[in-house]
Amino acid sequence: MKKIIIANWKMNPKSLSDAVKLAQKVSSETRSLRNAEVVLAPPFVYMPAVAKFAGKTKKTKLAVQNVFYEKGPPAGGGAYTGEVSLEQVKQFGAGFVIVGHSERRAIGETDEIIQKKLKIVLEGGLKAILCIGEKERNKEEAFPVIMRHELHSALLKIKKSALRNLIVAYEPIWAIGTGHAETPEHAFEITILIRRDLYKIAGRSIASKIPIIYGGSVTSKNAASFIKDGGMDGLLVGSASLLAQEFVKIVKGSAEAQK
Ligand code: PGA
Repeated sequence: MKKIIIANWKMNPKSLSDAVKLAQKVSSETRSLRNAEVVLAPPFVYMPAVAKFAGKTKKTKLAVQNVFYEKGPPAGGGAYTGEVSLEQVKQFGAGFVIVGHSERRAIGETDEIIQKKLKIVLEGGLKAILCIGEKERNKEEAFPVIMRHELHSALLKIKKSALRNLIVAYEPIWAIGTGHAETPEHAFEITILIRRDLYKIAGRSIASKIPIIYGGSVTSKNAASFIKDGGMDGLLVGSASLLAQEFVKIVKGSAEAQK
């Protein structure tokens, strides 16, 4: 399986020209790598510009950081001030949507909203990157209760066949943006528990193909070990994805690492 390396730019960079430069550099320097699928998730406003370098028909793929949970009419419109529909982002070649990121949960996204978004995305034929992760490490819990709840509640009511489009991102909140990444060894244990629950929910043949990726203070120094020792199928990278050279190093290191 190709390693999926996703750049979550969040509300960055500050200018359109920086966004274009970053997308151009990353796409041209990772183009020749066979073992990595690079996905860029820019803010919506930069999408049309980034879509020149990333998208469905390009080697580098395009993601969005959010979509609205109502479909609206067939054309994807509707009276929803400030929202963006799945149909709209599809037109720019987006193939992935980040759902349930802890930074969105922190500003009010509930389990119910996340479940609705996941359903729209998966049943609409795009890939969803479902983020789950515990707030604090409690050594007594092998599989943190909150995380398990996030996984199960999000997958509720979703057709099994649509789960083929699912990617699960293990993102411990305490590791996001802190410089304190999870250890690859512990991340490995968590993937086993996630995979076991996915088997129960989706059945073996679908669950065994769902990529499980890691996010939280990934850098070029620890990226390869999350693949090699952590058994990860890819990475979700925040701040390090804004530095073109650093991100390219992460992609190259991951592409070369063997699980
Ligand atoms: P970070 O962010 O790499 O800056 O820790 C990861 C994320 O929020 O997905």
